[in-house]
Amino acid sequence: MQKIAVLPGDGIGPEVVAEGLKVLNAISENYSVKFDFQEFNINSERYLSTGKLVTDEDIDQLRKFDSIFLGAIGDDRVKPGVLEKGILLALRFSFDQYINHRPAPLWKPFGRLKRDVDFNIDVFRENTEDYYIGAGGRVTGGKGAIDMRVKRHLYDMKVRLEANADASDDFAFEIGMMSRKNIERFADHVIDFSNLIGENYITVVDKANVCSNIYSLWREVWNEKCRKAGKEHGYMYVDAMTMALVKNPDKFRVIAVPNMFGDIITDLLAEVTGGLGLAPGGNINPKGISMFEPVHGSAPKYKGMDRINPVATILAAKMMMDNLGRRDLGDVIFKGVRGAFDKGVYTQDLGGKYTTKQMGDAVVAAIHALK
Ligand code: IPM
Ligand code: MN
Repeated sequence: MQKIAVLPGDGIGPEVVAEGLKVLNAISENYSVKFDFQEFNINSERYLSTGKLVTDEDIDQLRKFDSIFLGAIGDDRVKPGVLEKGILLALRFSFDQYINHRPAPLWKPFGRLKRDVDFNIDVFRENTEDYYIGAGGRVTGGKGAIDMRVKRHLYDMKVRLEANADASDDFAFEIGMMSRKNIERFADHVIDFSNLIGENYITVVDKANVCSNIYSLWREVWNEKCRKAGKEHGYMYVDAMTMALVKNPDKFRVIAVPNMFGDIITDLLAEVTGGLGLAPGGNINPKGISMFEPVHGSAPKYKGMDRINPVATILAAKMMMDNLGRRDLGDVIFKGVRGAFDKGVYTQDLGGKYTTKQMGDAVVAAIHALK
């Protein structure tokens, strides 16, 4: 029995999650796997009516599950950052999901490049540090101190910043931070993955030419880890990387990237593969509870219209099966999606005419047909 916590979330989240569950149910009808789904209403509605984001009780409840299956979090009625940090990032950090795996294969015939170029990229985005630690604040009038705290599974750190400017202006800080042990375990995971797929080269992204304090530590660890593992690696600055991903995506196979730049390049790359409607992500803790979600957000303007592409979420379910040790079933879901596309079933974002529900149904039909 696989115990899955389901968090449909906000906006179109519930619609795409429903299609993901449809597909997982089709898998359990056809193959030897049973699911116990339990839904949680950790979302903007609950926040607006009770003021609760992710609570300690939520975390205690979720700890009892094998995996978390998430739709999307975000609501226009709430100030940017509240739900994102209070729910999504809080979940990633609470479960120490230090790896964000975002596969980006070309989805023929939906690729957005003019040139016919085939590629299959796996991006690994560091998921708990960098400019996402939530440390910072304001010094008004040019003088003052900011007391910060960064709490992760690996450490609980207090940071104090004192500023004394000779200009009476307002100054705002957002502090980036990386720690050696976290980079080490992240690099280990990426190297293991490369070994698994028989790839000998890792492209490591950063901006070490400018943010040289934070990314020199990052590079130091990558150099050491790759040397010990006998892995080849090379560095790309993130600006050049955005260009290269559009120009020659076929030159890349495994990419490792810090949190913030990873956020940016995975949207860019999703578009290159065919669009955000096709991009799943896994927030991975190799020894703990992982969480799977589409890369896209809650798209409130499409809520309830039955037109959003559920494939990103269906592919997140595929990643969840892989992660639960059932790559065989992950493959079945992948083939189901491919099968539906090959029959000409796809949603409006891809130029098709099918609805969210019809797309899910077509994947289910393709899965039944595989038997
Ligand atoms: C993503 C999202 C999140 C992120 C936001 C909503 C916090 O953009 O999953 O890519 O920046 O990681
Ligand atoms: Mn993003």
